[in-house]
Amino acid sequence: MCGPGGNHMDDDSAVFGGPPGDGAEGPAGGGKDPDDADMVRASLERVRRRGGHVVRYFFAHLFRHHPHLRPLFPALMDDQYERLFTALVGVVEQLNRPGLAARLERLGRDHRKFGVVDADYPAVGASLVAALRRHSPATWDERTEAAWRRTYRSIAAHMTAGARRATAAGEPACWEARVVSHRLYGDHTAVLRAAVPTPYPWLPGQYATVEHQDLPGVWRPYSLAGVAAADERERVLEFHVGRVPGGLLSGVLCDATRPGHRLRLGPASGSALAPPPGTPGVTLIAGGTGWAPVKPVLDELLRRRPAPRVRVDAVARGEAHFYDGAFLDGLLRDRPWLSAYWWYQEQGEGLIRAAERLHEHLRRRRDWAGESVYLCGPAGFVQETAELLFSCGLPPGALIRDPLPASAARRGHVSHAEAFLDPPPVHWIDPDARIGPSADAPAAPPAAPPTAPPAVAPIPAATAAAAVRGRTRAS
Ligand SMILES: Cc1cc2nc3c(=O)[nH]c(=O)nc-3n(C[C@H](O)[C@H](O)[C@H](O)COP(=O)(O)OP(=O)(O)OC[C@H]3O[C@@H](n4cnc5c(N)ncnc54)[C@H](O)[C@@H]3O)c2cc1C
Ligand code: HEM
Repeated sequence: MCGPGGNHMDDDSAVFGGPPGDGAEGPAGGGKDPDDADMVRASLERVRRRGGHVVRYFFAHLFRHHPHLRPLFPALMDDQYERLFTALVGVVEQLNRPGLAARLERLGRDHRKFGVVDADYPAVGASLVAALRRHSPATWDERTEAAWRRTYRSIAAHMTAGARRATAAGEPACWEARVVSHRLYGDHTAVLRAAVPTPYPWLPGQYATVEHQDLPGVWRPYSLAGVAAADERERVLEFHVGRVPGGLLSGVLCDATRPGHRLRLGPASGSALAPPPGTPGVTLIAGGTGWAPVKPVLDELLRRRPAPRVRVDAVARGEAHFYDGAFLDGLLRDRPWLSAYWWYQEQGEGLIRAAERLHEHLRRRRDWAGESVYLCGPAGFVQETAELLFSCGLPPGALIRDPLPASAARRGHVSHAEAFLDPPPVHWIDPDARIGPSADAPAAPPAAPPTAPPAVAPIPAATAAAAVRGRTRAS
């Protein structure tokens, strides 16, 4: 393990409490000046178009003055520029919003897995201010600098407080895991399992950030896909990794990972948990490896008593892309009352057909009253499907999904074709979605077969070419 075990609860107090400090080098404190947020936002806006230069200068400054911090970052820093700037802009855009303090504390808690310690915060603050000052020669003044210093110190104070609290509570900075099995489906998706020596608490719908032994410093989130009973589930973790062309970690996890390889895992995060107990009907919609979080959510729903009506709509590029089809087939065999529809396009059809067919079908459904929808998949697919569901009358509160990464949300309209054929550049940095694994844990009742089949909305003939249940292809 990377550290001691345990959990902590976060408080949600105002972000900029405490007395104003006197510089970015101070480890704690913070200003309460309401102008600070406006000043730093305006200053950030002025350098936004030169963001790449600012961040390049920032890193050069940081590594020159604090070379010991270089190993904390990945060897290859190509997309780090935009990644860090996006993160920074994201935090600054949220200044003064309720809940930011708790989010920053969780972010600080999670920064421990990078190897970040309290003493590193002043160094980063000094380089940040230096980079901004350098790239705003005409507009930078003492007031702007003071506002940045107070703001940064306040953000850092929340992050270090979160880190200290988690450490004091014995929460591990990360978990060491060992790959126990690895299987590549086609050339597109790997399903791998990793064992942890000490229990890893997580809830259906959550994800873990993962680092591979051969790519130190490269952390990416992957949904937790295991379906075993809670105690076993916390010992062997399953991940489904789709290959992203040119992708760093997905490439290694798909092609160069073998049993015995070491992974490190950050604490389970994510607020898109299984629908609350008592939900009468649930539709689970999964696009591609969006199936990974849906799988344990489905498992949890199937254990509930009374059993909710459950239907699954799984979407993929082609039949071969249903990499976990055997699992779903098994569920369907044993539970004739469970409905599952698999949407894919035939060879020679355009890559948008599967999602279009699903959308046609959703548009025709009339049974949304009382239904909860769990939606997961590529950002563009999730965005379009969510909009469609709302236009069909699904209340926003009935839709469960992880918030979109900031950069994907900013792209505006993303079509099916982009999502499936030319996936958008998604930056999976989303501190908003991080919640502790202990909160609101729904107790999983013991498994027992339900007695009555749930009502199933029929698929119109115009939409479904083949079976009403089982593999439904686009035509
Ligand atoms: C909450 C959450 C859960 C996730 N769960 C899963 C999961 O279960 N399985 C899974 O395979 N992935 C999942 N992801 C995506 C995953 O974290 C990585 O983003 C993905 O594997 C690419 O990482 P990489 O290092 O290979 O690519 P990078 O080296 O980060 O990126 C290479 C290039 O591809 C672009 N890119 C990055 N990610 C994507 C993407 N998803 N689609 C298209 N282009 C992309 C980048 O902008 C860049 O241009 C999840 C993301 C989030 C936020
Ligand atoms: C106080 C201000 C800081 C803020 C707002 C901040 C914010 C962030 C965010 C949002 C991420 C992405 C998290 C993720 O994807 O899991 C990140 C990653 C990271 N941060 Fe920070 N951070 C801060 C300070 C620091 C400090 C002091 C260090 C120490 C050097 C540091 C080192 C890192 C590293 C190594 C990463 C990983 C980069 C990667 O994903 O490749 N951060 N930071």
